[in-house]
Amino acid sequence: MRTCRVGLVGAGGVAQRHARVLAGFEDVELLGVTDVARDAAAELAGAHGGRSFADVDELLAAGPDAVYVCVPPFAHGPVEEAVIAAGIPMFVEKPVAVDLDTAERIAALVQEKGLLTAVGHHWRYLHVVEQARQLLADRPVRMVNGAWLDKVPPVAWWAVRERSGGPVVEQAAHVLDLVRALVGEAVEVTAYGDGTPPPVDGADIDSVTAATLRFAGGAVGTLAAACVLTWKHRAGLEILADGLALSLAEDGLVIRDADGERRVESDPDGARVAVDRAFIDAVTGVGDDIRVPYAEALRTQRLALAVAESARTGRSVTLPTGPAATRSLAAVPTAVTEGVSVDA
Ligand SMILES: NC(=O)c1ccc[n+]([C@@H]2O[C@H](COP(=O)([O-])OP(=O)(O)OC[C@H]3O[C@@H](n4cnc5c(N)ncnc54)[C@H](O)[C@@H]3O)[C@@H](O)[C@H]2O)c1
Repeated sequence: MRTCRVGLVGAGGVAQRHARVLAGFEDVELLGVTDVARDAAAELAGAHGGRSFADVDELLAAGPDAVYVCVPPFAHGPVEEAVIAAGIPMFVEKPVAVDLDTAERIAALVQEKGLLTAVGHHWRYLHVVEQARQLLADRPVRMVNGAWLDKVPPVAWWAVRERSGGPVVEQAAHVLDLVRALVGEAVEVTAYGDGTPPPVDGADIDSVTAATLRFAGGAVGTLAAACVLTWKHRAGLEILADGLALSLAEDGLVIRDADGERRVESDPDGARVAVDRAFIDAVTGVGDDIRVPYAEALRTQRLALAVAESARTGRSVTLPTGPAATRSLAAVPTAVTEGVSVDA
């Protein structure tokens, strides 16, 4: 069995989770951790073996087989560039950036290098997602309603738009990623934010956002995001097709059709392990089940940023699809988008 030597960039909450999961894999050795907060890197390395590195260059010089990029949204870019230049397979946490330029630049470099990548959209590994896909295989989706209704997470950067991208990019991206997986690509979004930050120091994000979406396949949908609660209220989506209603969340799927209603339990922790297992297996060459490589996450990033952009500007945003999908977002006034044809 080939051992995969993993380096972690970032030692915060999500890096700790990956380190715990990876420490349970017999074929993984934690090479070490780097974090701009040196103490955090030393603590995480101390908990799971490996050493603490001064910076990304020092970590890369130690020769990892794979690198996990677990930095906050605003810190993406330079880390990935260094990992790509070194030609090391890379797992990047979502969201892949706060903006589109960074994400597109990194995606182009990844493609140029033909680098193996994975992004932390672990919901794709829920077995109920596959079940939902099968149930929808023979009937088109008519409507999807996604929601992430929650609190402000306890990290200082989260409530600052320039640092997190805002709740839709940072959090509801999980839901938007599933929406894309099950409904297809959105071609136009219109969103509104309330313009009132949550009561947290330095906050400048919307407390609530409501969006409508139109999909290439003809479906329409909505997305609701909120961070005004003190608990996680709901995160998931509801899909309607002819004679079928699906309600999907991280913990299960409720199916309702002519036969009545049934619930299928899910295994969120299993999905969090599966996303790491699939990446390591791909790196060591024994598996091929990376469900969200960087290029796929870029499309989710584009959709999330389209919603955020529309909420910020008050204008509808059209999204390119097909070959034109490498183009940037185009913000156009709502009135002008009526009847506008979108690239197929
Ligand atoms: N997939 C998931 O389920 C999931 C869950 C939690 C968090 N996340 C994502 O992971 C990312 C990080 O979240 P978190 O909760 O770990 O945040 P965090 O603030 O707890 O940790 C981030 C760490 O990165 C470090 N850091 C910042 N800039 C750095 C840089 N340039 N180089 C090295 N280290 C740097 C910080 O010092 C901090 O220790 C976020 O984008 C978040 O959305 C994903």
